[in-house]
Amino acid sequence: MPKLTYYGHSTCSLETEEGTHIVIDPFFDENPVCDVAVEDVEADFILITHGHFDHIADAIPLAERTGATVVATYEIATFLESKGLTVSPQHIGGGVTYPFGYVKMTPALHGGAVNLPGAEAATTMPAGLLIHFDTGERFHHAGDTALIVDMQLLKGQVDVAMLPIGDRFTMGPSDAVRAIDFIEPKAVIPIHYDTWPPLEQDAEAFKAAVGSRAEVEIMKCGDTYSF
Ligand code: NI
Ligand code: MN
Repeated sequence: MPKLTYYGHSTCSLETEEGTHIVIDPFFDENPVCDVAVEDVEADFILITHGHFDHIADAIPLAERTGATVVATYEIATFLESKGLTVSPQHIGGGVTYPFGYVKMTPALHGGAVNLPGAEAATTMPAGLLIHFDTGERFHHAGDTALIVDMQLLKGQVDVAMLPIGDRFTMGPSDAVRAIDFIEPKAVIPIHYDTWPPLEQDAEAFKAAVGSRAEVEIMKCGDTYSF
């Protein structure tokens, strides 16, 4: 039963029963809704959905201190490898088996810049993450994305989904409800909202709109959820 710890915005950590820490989209020190410092975070694997600052900002310091393997799209992984990090490149539609389970990159419709010093010329295809844990649980982090019909391919493969609801740069609440109709997860954790004023949303109203489609877990930084 993985234990998810939410750090606000799109950042979370999944701890497996064996004690493996999988950090997704590390954005700690400049994350206005996160009061945990990156230097206090454990990581064995760091999974990155795309190159925007609010998803990759703390990847290098976290990987340097912990020695974690960074899982990212080929373009991001190649750049991080040039910085001396241990990487596992993947790309959309491809999966890799790790000691904790299988990680597949799913399509996301979003911007491709890589916001790290020295990576200004790099672009990549943003991704979502589908994780099938060896212990049986199935998890999806959608990354930053519009509503896309490709999400229908995830139907029947996801127990817990983290979906953006912030609007402006990603799906808003009503499109996230349609995404739930496509994916049919048991539980949904809304992300990528209330980080800054332009992303303000009413998570309780989203939960009401989801209704009986799925459980909605509204989480704050430091909250945990086991599934
Ligand atoms: Ni983004
Ligand atoms: Mn973002």
